[in-house]
Order: sequence, then structure tokens, then C-alpha cells
Amino acid sequence: MDVVLSGIRATGHLHLGNYFGALRNFVKIQDKYNCFYFIADLHSLTTHPHPEDFHQNVKIILTEYLAAGLDPDKCTIYVQSDVPEICELYTLLNMLAYKGELERTAAFKDKVRKNPENVNAGLLTYPVLMASDILIHRSSWVPVGKDQDQHLEMARTFARRFNNLYGTEVFPEPHAMDPVGGPVKVPGLDGNGKMGKSEGNGIYLCDDEKTITKKVMRAVTDAGPKTPDSPKPEVIDNLFTLMKLVSTPDTVNYFEEKWNDCSIRYGDMKKQLAEDICKITLPIRARIDDIANDSSYLHRVVSDGRDKARASASATLEMAREAIGIKRF
Ligand code: TRP
Repeated sequence: MDVVLSGIRATGHLHLGNYFGALRNFVKIQDKYNCFYFIADLHSLTTHPHPEDFHQNVKIILTEYLAAGLDPDKCTIYVQSDVPEICELYTLLNMLAYKGELERTAAFKDKVRKNPENVNAGLLTYPVLMASDILIHRSSWVPVGKDQDQHLEMARTFARRFNNLYGTEVFPEPHAMDPVGGPVKVPGLDGNGKMGKSEGNGIYLCDDEKTITKKVMRAVTDAGPKTPDSPKPEVIDNLFTLMKLVSTPDTVNYFEEKWNDCSIRYGDMKKQLAEDICKITLPIRARIDDIANDSSYLHRVVSDGRDKARASASATLEMAREAIGIKRF
């Protein structure tokens, strides 16, 4: 059975971008493939989080993964730092990753521009650690957002380079797995393009009804259409994009018609949008507190996940070591 793997950096609560961009898709496929979902806590160390926040962030993602419907009986859920085999593979792959190609990575250049005072080696080799995450289970499919395409391309490059150099087929080339119907880009409602934590425009799975409504009602709009059937400016298109994710087709059509005949009232549309977001997120939110308070359940999930992940990881590592010529005396 094909291996599917994805992960998320442990930097805080999950927002609708994470949910519709990837998580909802994971939940749907978790019993159709051999699925691994992990929390990338080591990756989050590039920004030197406070030790207490570090653990808290892992717990938040774990809890929200489970609340959103990831089922530890169907897939393997684990914490990256619990699986030391990933770090060993990272060391091995670092020997095949060139400084120039790492420096040319868009995400790296972006970080250098934004935080010139913290250009550490972990940041430079972020794609190598990510490739190790993927290759350690010999994954074929990685459901992630478009923004990770370049990182995935690098994982393929490292896999191919390893296989060619050592004349093996240890690593299959991993590919992006798009949700049924194509990739989903969740827009921000502040005219900022995508929804993201660093963009500061997130609507979170843990937000209550009042917070969600407030965020949606604040969405940037324009003065309204002047002529029938006119194209939508980006901020309005964003409202519709989000609506298509959370509302019924009838609701979307209703507002499309209102847009087309210039009778649209953004206030009504936002109210509907907020309501429909709540319909999807509030059941998840309701589970978050219960799960977060059940520490024996969380402990069980993480330790079962670690055992399963380590069994798979050590088998791959054994093959990689053998291919390289690392032998036991
Ligand atoms: N880089 C990913 C992100 O920022 C997180 C991540 C780390 C990841 N390792 C991964 C995603 C392996 C998929 C597979 O979202």
C-alpha cells in the first residue's frame, strides 16, 4: 500500500488554511493508504521558541489534529522529535545537499530577508530535514499546500541523488497529493492573499462563534458592483472562495446571482459566511477541550504513534545504511 505522509510545523493553532488546505483531506484518506501524520517540532526550533511554548505548541497541534478527525486507529500520528531515525537520515542526506541549491530556496530567501539576524544552518537545511521526514517512511504521496512545492521538489532531488549515487532504489520519489477537485488555496479576508499564521489573518479551529463572526464581519470589501456581470476584484473573490469551501452550492449561487445583478449586500453575505464557518468548526472546537484535558489519551496516542513510526523508520534507515556501506562489526 502506498505511503502518504504529511506534517505541520508546531507553531500554534490550526486555522482554516491548514484545515481546508490539507487536514480535511488527510481525514478523508486516512483509511485508504498507509498514512503517517506528524508534528514537526524540530522544524519549529529554527525560531528558538521558549521551552514552555515549545511543548505547548506540540500539544495544541496534536489535540487539534485529533479533534479534526484524525484517527490513531487508522493512521500513525507522532511527534518528529520522538523518532531519532529522522535525524540520522538528515545527517546522511545533508552530505548530498549542496549549499547553493539550499540558498536558492524561495522559503529560505524569504526568511533571510525577514530575519537577517537569525540565518542559522537549521534554516538553510530545513528542506533536508523535511526530505528526511518524507523519505524515512519511503512515502510516495505528500498532501501539502502549493507553498511546499519547492520543498517537495528538493525531496525528490535528494531521493534521486541518493539512489543514483549508491545504485539503489531505497527511496521512491515523493509527489504532492492534491485534494479531490484540485489544490485549495484558502484566502485571507484582509486583502492579503493567503490565510496564514504569519500573515496574522487566521480564522482558527479553536475560535469561538463570536470571534469568528467578528473576524468575518471585518473582511475587506469594496463599494459594490456597478455594472451587471462584472468581474470580481480580489477581495470579493476571496469571500466567494471561502464561501465555496464552507457553504452549500445553493448558498454560493444565491450570492453569485446577487453579485451579478448588483444587488449584493456584503453584510448579508458575511453573516452567512460566518454562520457556515461556525457550522464546520464548532463541532471540532467542542472536541478540543475534552481531548486536551485527557492526558492519558494523548499519552497513549503519542506513544503508540512513536512505536509505529520508529518501526517503519528504522527499517528504511537500515536500507540506507547498508546502501552507503555502513556495516556492523
Ligand atoms: N514545511 C512544512 C510546512 O511548513 C511542514 C513540514 C515539515 C512537512 N516536514 C514535512 C510537510 C514533511 C510535509 C511533509 O508546512
